[in-house]
Amino acid sequence: MRTLKVALLGCGVVGSDVARYMETHAADLAARIGAPVELAGIAVRRAGLPRPGIPDHLVTTDADALVARADIDVVIEVIGGTDRARDLITSAFAHGASVVSANKALIAAEGRALHAAAAAHGVDLYYEAAVAGAIPLLRPLRESLAGDRVNRILGIVNGTTNFVLDQMDSLGAEYPQALKEATALGYAEADPTADVEGHDAAAKAAILAGIAFNTDVRLDDVHREGITAITAADIAAAKAAGCVVKLLAICDRGADGTSVTVRVHPAMLPLDHPLAAVRGAFNAVFVEADAAGQLMFYGPGAGGAPTASSVLGDLVAVCRNKLAGITGPGAVTYTQLTVGPMADVVTRHHVGIDVTDGADVVAKVAGVLGEHGVSIETLSQQRKGSGCRLALSTHPATDAAMSAAVAALRAAACVHEVTGTIRIEGR
Ligand code: HSE
Repeated sequence: MRTLKVALLGCGVVGSDVARYMETHAADLAARIGAPVELAGIAVRRAGLPRPGIPDHLVTTDADALVARADIDVVIEVIGGTDRARDLITSAFAHGASVVSANKALIAAEGRALHAAAAAHGVDLYYEAAVAGAIPLLRPLRESLAGDRVNRILGIVNGTTNFVLDQMDSLGAEYPQALKEATALGYAEADPTADVEGHDAAAKAAILAGIAFNTDVRLDDVHREGITAITAADIAAAKAAGCVVKLLAICDRGADGTSVTVRVHPAMLPLDHPLAAVRGAFNAVFVEADAAGQLMFYGPGAGGAPTASSVLGDLVAVCRNKLAGITGPGAVTYTQLTVGPMADVVTRHHVGIDVTDGADVVAKVAGVLGEHGVSIETLSQQRKGSGCRLALSTHPATDAAMSAAVAALRAAACVHEVTGTIRIEGR
């Protein structure tokens, strides 16, 4: 029985756990694959660092030579970044290796070309770990739900921002204080931009939408807003409305059957929505499909061991394929849906407005909204200084209509300030 050989690119938090589990779970992996699987080399950027449990003789700084080795069956890429990772993955394909990657940014930006390259060389490209860490999500969407029709995905796919928003919700903290706490506890990175500005979630949304709707969705297609503008007042307004604020990745099949919209932004969710109960740094993805109805996938979305779990699952799958002389399902993009603009997305909205107090002020606000086709669903008001604070929710309206209405409200003489607008989902 031949031994399958694996090259590991990267030995950081995820890579070192992959190496560790390949060692401790070796017998189970061999039994499940049908052949032993052996770590044949580990490419790192800097040699000589202490790497407990990692055999020195496997470590190399020459990743190019490692992926080009004729005896390598599978390359595991956990270095992140795009250019270098793409070049190494492409070289791995050209040298006959299948690839398991955790690289959401690369797959979201260049997945189509990479899938084509893998297919051209008759090898696999799997990346379960790229979206929501340990949560089995891509294979269920690609395979388990292949006979169904997914209509909507609503996901909390970034743990850092979920932790920050959860801190703001439970402590009443402002964003900078909550981010500081997330950094101190190791949830947020020193440079949190990719997480808090929604880039990380947008990449995951692009991957999810492409697989769920069998179409090609690129990172640039995703409408993206982060959480940096969310205030304690927004969170308090959500609470008062029986909601929580979450950063959501939302992928919708258009009613016309020819389009899809993919967006990442903060949204209010009613407390009785299953995603509202997702606390701390956890991830969860809510899927709606014709036959299955509503499904929820929940678990740790980051961290060495949870991400290694997904990587190892992919490793088993691609090794089985290698032994069988086949490749697994690649990119399926036959629906060729167009990606619709954010302006056309229809949602309910929450709007907070500080106004002067006067006999016709509510009527004026309602009039401005009405002129833009936005209808009020609920309205409450409370005194604030010499004026009032209005909190209203709208019936479904397009983003374009709502943006125009908010601009007009800001210009209205009776409006001191539009204190916040947040889309409402999950109702
Ligand atoms: N930084 C991500 C998060 C994990 O906070 O969820 C990796 O995608």
